[in-house]
Amino acid sequence: MADLSRADAALPLPKRTGADLEARARELLPPAVYDYYAGGSETETTLLEAPLAWQRWRLRPRMLSGVSAPELTTTVLGTPVASPIGVAPWALQRMAHPEGELATAAGCARTGSLMTVSTTATVPLDEVAAVAPESAKWFQLYQVHGPAYTDDLVRRAAAAGYRALVLTVDLPILGRRLRDLANDFQLPEGLVMANHPDQAAEPVNPELPVSAAGGSGVSVRRLSEALDSVDETPPWTYANVEHFAGLTDLPVVVKGVLRGDDAQRCLEAGASAVWVSTHGGRQVDRAVSSAAALVDVVSAVNDHAEVYVDGGIRSGTDALIALALGARVVFCARPVIWGLAIDGVDGVADVLSRLRTELAHSMTLCGVASVQRVPRDLVTL
Ligand SMILES: Cc1cc2nc3c(=O)[nH]c(=O)nc-3n(C[C@H](O)[C@H](O)[C@H](O)COP(=O)(O)O)c2cc1C
Repeated sequence: MADLSRADAALPLPKRTGADLEARARELLPPAVYDYYAGGSETETTLLEAPLAWQRWRLRPRMLSGVSAPELTTTVLGTPVASPIGVAPWALQRMAHPEGELATAAGCARTGSLMTVSTTATVPLDEVAAVAPESAKWFQLYQVHGPAYTDDLVRRAAAAGYRALVLTVDLPILGRRLRDLANDFQLPEGLVMANHPDQAAEPVNPELPVSAAGGSGVSVRRLSEALDSVDETPPWTYANVEHFAGLTDLPVVVKGVLRGDDAQRCLEAGASAVWVSTHGGRQVDRAVSSAAALVDVVSAVNDHAEVYVDGGIRSGTDALIALALGARVVFCARPVIWGLAIDGVDGVADVLSRLRTELAHSMTLCGVASVQRVPRDLVTL
């Protein structure tokens, strides 16, 4: 009997669900900030479909397998991680909590989770890297202020100890996020995109109140204007993937891939891995779900490279299904946003522990011994 609960004994199963956490965060955040984090583009069809697409799959659990304490550790591009659930890059974290990216990094370090740090962070990339430097972090790249400045960001990320460069390729322009347009969403005063040239020198004051969107001060700017100022050159092509693969020794991961043929071309252009994503339903509305795209991409990549996925992963069982479909690891954004908003470092660590515990629980019930060997035939439609 004792063996049956070994995984649970180490990590008690949470009593609160992801939906509870979102509801709590919604109470705490200014409405326009909540909308910015929660929202998607246009009709939000892709946003809404993301979790449902994982829920469509059914498990075919194996009995009598003797699994009592499944192995959650794995590697990503050779880097060991405590679980296959990482944190996706998300922008402007000081709007959720005064410590922003610093708290997320500390929460990831506490749980041994891989963190991907966004170009549009509110703390400079070097300072985030310095939080628990031994804890694995990747840097997510957007084009900022033209190619020369962007190349320099890559070199800074490599020097700061990031272990991979994630090129987000699904944002040639900003998706039309109707909630933000309706709210006339603006960056709260005092927050800066700390990796951007005209703002990097401005100190971010963690004591500043994280006020509701709005206000008319000169430093308050519409988000779309801020992002537009970021990019003064044409959208990226495969030539840019080649460029960054040659610029740095860091492995290049292409994020935002939704088709098998695109995935193959990314690998031919020098990418080490591809990351299936709809950008949390914030870019192409009516795009295919990540769960469906994962099947296509895994089949095209055919074991030649690691494949990652994000979008609508809300439980350990969702993660297990993604692993069965061929993802090496999965990433989450919104659950971590809610954790950060509720309780800073502790909130981030709680959410990641919850997901990990749920994954162990599901694996035990299904007779899966290791996240590195989740059989494809565990799932069926
Ligand atoms: C508020 C917010 C900001 C985001 N900012 C970025 C970003 O700066 N760079 C990026 O590559 N993806 C960004 N994303 C997309 C996430 O990395 C990720 O692809 C997606 O949100 C995962 O889906 P989930 O939120 O359902 O877990 C953002 C997502 C959200 C919700």
